[in-house]
Formats: sequence, C-alpha cells, structure tokens
Amino acid sequence: MAEVIIVPDAQAAGGLVADEIARLIRANPEVVLGLATGSTPLPVYEALPERLDGVDVSRVRGFALDEYVGIDPAHPESYRSVIHREVVEPLGLDPALIRTPDGSLEGIEHAGADYESAIAAAGGVALQILGIGTDGHIGFNEPGSSFASVTRVKTLTQQTLEDNARFFDSVEDVPMHCITQGLGTILRARHLVLLAFGEGKAEAVAGAVEGPVTASLPGSAIQLHPHVTVVVDEAAASRLQFADYYHYTYDNKPAWQGL
Ligand code: F6R
Repeated sequence: MAEVIIVPDAQAAGGLVADEIARLIRANPEVVLGLATGSTPLPVYEALPERLDGVDVSRVRGFALDEYVGIDPAHPESYRSVIHREVVEPLGLDPALIRTPDGSLEGIEHAGADYESAIAAAGGVALQILGIGTDGHIGFNEPGSSFASVTRVKTLTQQTLEDNARFFDSVEDVPMHCITQGLGTILRARHLVLLAFGEGKAEAVAGAVEGPVTASLPGSAIQLHPHVTVVVDEAAASRLQFADYYHYTYDNKPAWQGL
C-alpha cells in the first residue's frame, strides 16, 4: 500500500517533496526526475530553489509526463513552455537535459516510441511527481487506459478539457489530443510521489489509494507499485477511510526511513 501523508496545506507538501528531490540531486547530480505540470506540483517547484542553493544542478535530467498534440511549442501553455517557466528557469537546469514528449503533428506516429527510448537510455526515472485529475487520470491516462500502456496519443475527456480550460481562453482552445507517458511507463519509475490538494480531488484520491485497482480509475495503478508516497492536504484526504491510520503511521514513522 502507498504511504499516505496528510499535511496541513500544499506548502507543507511542497517542502516535504522538495526535501527529497534535493536529497536525490545531492546524492546523484545526474538524477532523472519525472516532472508533472498543472497546478499541483507548483508548491514543490517553488520550494526547490532555496534547497538547491549551492548545489550543482547542471547535469540533472528530467522527463515531463505529457504534452498537448498540435500545440505550438512556444505557446505559453504548451507543457514544454510550462516546464521551462516553472522548473528549468527557476532552478537553473540545462534545458537540453529536460524533455517533454514531442506533440508536433509531424512525426507524431513515432513520438511515443522515441520518448520511451529516451527514458530507457537515461536509465529510467528515479522519482516521478504525479498529480491526479478529477476523473482519476495520472499523466493524461484517461479512464480505460491500459496498465501496460506506454507513451502514446490519447484523447482528453470532456471533464479534463473543462478542468484545463482555466489555462486557456476557453474550453474550445484546449487541445483535444495529448501525448502522455503510459501507466506502464509511470509504473517503471522507481518512486512515485502523488500529490493532491482540495476537496475536488478527494474522490479521485480515495479511489486511487483505497478503491479497487481498475482501469476505470487510472490512478489506482499506483497500488501496483512497491514505492509510492501520496501527499495530500486534509481536504483531498477527506474521503479516505483509513485517514486516522495514515496519521498514526506517519506520526510513528521510523527516523531512518526516507520518503
Ligand atoms: C500534468 C498531468 C495531469 C495533472 C492532473 C491534475 O502533467 O499529467 O495528470 O497532474 O490533470 O492537474 P492539476 O494539478 O492542474 O489539478
């Protein structure tokens, strides 16, 4: 079962996860990070610069989870731009070492396989940051996605289009297709860290952590992974049946055990 850590707020979650990422970078300056976009990981990215003060980050490598298909890479809401703005620039990473799946229409048929090869060539992802959609998606693996899936093109659900409309002028402007790491790809990362904040995520979190393992709720794939940390605020934890136990285990967590 995933370790579930219920924190007072998103800032506390950001600090906790940033501590672990900074530790990994110090231990291995060439570490491969799995990066998520959207609102959820922002507290982690915001907490990182002060923890990396004086640390050599020039060789850190990273792979984003997903990208919109057909979006101009220079569009401010392409995930390539978002990762650049929120992670690469503030942390001073080498942009050549931080990749997003290629969502260009030209070559889209082999973009997924190319991305899989690049992740494998880098030695795989050490720590994968994940958010979760209100419909239970991780990456852009919408309900029905195979647990064995690899990076490929998917069609976003109406709910995801509406959820992501806040980043665009209107829901019609949200690209309908995306290219996303598969659930199989995500499950190969060595440590999964899933974050969620707010009441709107409570149902998806409860399904992912405590519900049946089902492709109908792709986030439940985390139950198949041996090392998962779920970091949620009280609101996102509000539908968890075993919340008291999670508090109890975290309060009594052995000091030697890392995240
Ligand atoms: C983003 C991603 C998505 C988001 C999810 C939650 O790279 O893969 O799974 O994590 O849609 O989005 P936010 O964090 O904006 O609520």
